[in-house]
Amino acid sequence: MASPEVIQQIKSRLDVVEVIGEYVRLKQAGQNWKGLCPFHQEKTPSFVVSKERQMWYCFGCNSGGDIFEFIERLEGLEFPEVLEMLARRAQVTLDKTPGGEPNQRLRLLNLLEQAQKFYNEQLAGSAPAQAVRDYLVQRQITADSLKTFGLGYAPAEWDKLSNYLRSQKFSVAELVAAGVAVKSERGPGVYDRFRERLMFPITDVQGRVVGFGGRVLDKEAKEAKYINSPQGPVYNKSLIVYNLDRAKAYIKEAGFAVLVEGYMDVIGSWQAGVRNVAATSGTALTLEQIKLIKRYTSEVRVAFDADLAGKSAAERGIDLALTAEMEVKVIALPFGKDPDECAKQDQVAWQTAVTQALPIVDHAFMTVLKQVDASTREGKKTAAASLLRAIAKLPDPVEQDYYLKKLAQEIGVDELALRQRFGAQASSFKKESIVTPAVPVVVDRQRLIAERLLALLLRYTDGLSGIMTDLPAEMLGAPELSELYRRWLIYYNKVQDFEIDEFRQELQVEAEMLRLLDVLSLRVEGDLADLPEDEAVKEGQVLLQQIKQNYFSQELKQLSAAIREAEKQGSAAELQSLLARFNEISQQLSSLQS
Ligand code: GTP
Ligand code: MN
Repeated sequence: MASPEVIQQIKSRLDVVEVIGEYVRLKQAGQNWKGLCPFHQEKTPSFVVSKERQMWYCFGCNSGGDIFEFIERLEGLEFPEVLEMLARRAQVTLDKTPGGEPNQRLRLLNLLEQAQKFYNEQLAGSAPAQAVRDYLVQRQITADSLKTFGLGYAPAEWDKLSNYLRSQKFSVAELVAAGVAVKSERGPGVYDRFRERLMFPITDVQGRVVGFGGRVLDKEAKEAKYINSPQGPVYNKSLIVYNLDRAKAYIKEAGFAVLVEGYMDVIGSWQAGVRNVAATSGTALTLEQIKLIKRYTSEVRVAFDADLAGKSAAERGIDLALTAEMEVKVIALPFGKDPDECAKQDQVAWQTAVTQALPIVDHAFMTVLKQVDASTREGKKTAAASLLRAIAKLPDPVEQDYYLKKLAQEIGVDELALRQRFGAQASSFKKESIVTPAVPVVVDRQRLIAERLLALLLRYTDGLSGIMTDLPAEMLGAPELSELYRRWLIYYNKVQDFEIDEFRQELQVEAEMLRLLDVLSLRVEGDLADLPEDEAVKEGQVLLQQIKQNYFSQELKQLSAAIREAEKQGSAAELQSLLARFNEISQQLSSLQS
């Protein structure tokens, strides 16, 4: 395991805002950065990143930590993998513990990296690859792209890659687990999965090779045009969007992602200067993929058949994207059978088509109204039927309203009648929500109140210290909050002044306390920054009151349970003292409430 020094070294070399900024769109807010929390559904940002403290915290779901914890949670990786990933990024070398068993997943990733290099070298160097090199020229794939996309050639032999990887000390089981070899049905051995194919490495968002897509070269071949890596320990189809690792920065810059179907479409678009492009690899988008894309943008422009009328795989993905509140636009190809053809023929035409993409319902209006004659009764009926269906899929009632008006105008029917029909049918159009509802965040109200009060205290120590004098630490509930407050009291009584950084020094060695203090400081810097002192004091008084009420009510509850127990046991003395205490606290509580 890595030493704390190594972890510290990695942290000091990486910028928390930059690392997290790759996953979450962050905006500067005062001395910190803010964005939408990737760990729970929210519409207003409560996810804060602090450069100074090298940490993140979400006030919505009350979770936080350093970059390690962020990547671990977001990517669903184990700590050793996060360590390796961030170490590589920070250019810190980790010395592997001698004799230690390297993580199995890491071994498979390493295997795949070597396979990719192997295919790549075959393409560059081997004589039989000449045909592939010719093919690339014919498809106008540049030398730059060849490098960028790490293309390769899988030779025709049955076991060339397998033999090579075996010589690199990978086991047969590992070859199979990584998806590059297939168990032979006849013998104990394995053979290469990909043979005589043009190879497209498939990478995850961090750019690590997790699988391959292989295209046949021989047009006459009866095999499938593409073979892809099977699902396995490192390749999870529904979690991968082809080219997202290279495109993510461009996506953020452009404000939207272009979604195409194929590997070749990605390369064609990339070469034509539209680099915010990713591919679904010919299948419907999954919710996981949508979430992945949503880290970078909330708008996708799709370049495949989609008019919301039919039931194709592509459309199911789009429905899902709409339900996930993404804006979906449709790119209409001016010519060519796919984006690749269009872009190769005319780069500008492709760029223009992308720029001029229409919101999906507008696109549906355009196609439907082109197909029917809206001046006839029959035409009106057909158009209404298919466009109402499209409108029903929009999650936003304001947008629905806009398009209902538009539809009434375009096909010349009474708006009210159309609305009635829409109302009657909308629920049946709208299938049970496909997106699993966001897990409700459980908020511990008492804790929030206590944290808020402490944050106020840190912000306006002098103003609030007066009202705090009669707050016993245990009333704050959570032991760590009480402890921090106790420490603060000691500190404040000692120096009669408060300086957050000095207080920090006092807590130096206690990681948990420090972290709690950091979280509270983020609150101070964030929503409390502009709160005037007199309001802070007023709020402090209200919070204090609430904390005490909570505390006393809980005490009473516990006491009444104890009283019942004492009655059962018949212990008179005990009963008497409990009752006395009960009265005392009830009085305190009622004096608070009066
Ligand atoms: P070219 O035909 O060379 O232009 O490739 P393309 O990338 O344009 O492929 P196409 O539009 O035919 O298909 C889109 C995507 O669907 C491909 O990139 C593959 O990911 C996937 N695909 C196509 N054909 C097959 C197949 O036979 N099997 C599998 N598993 N996937 C396929
Ligand atoms: Mn194509």
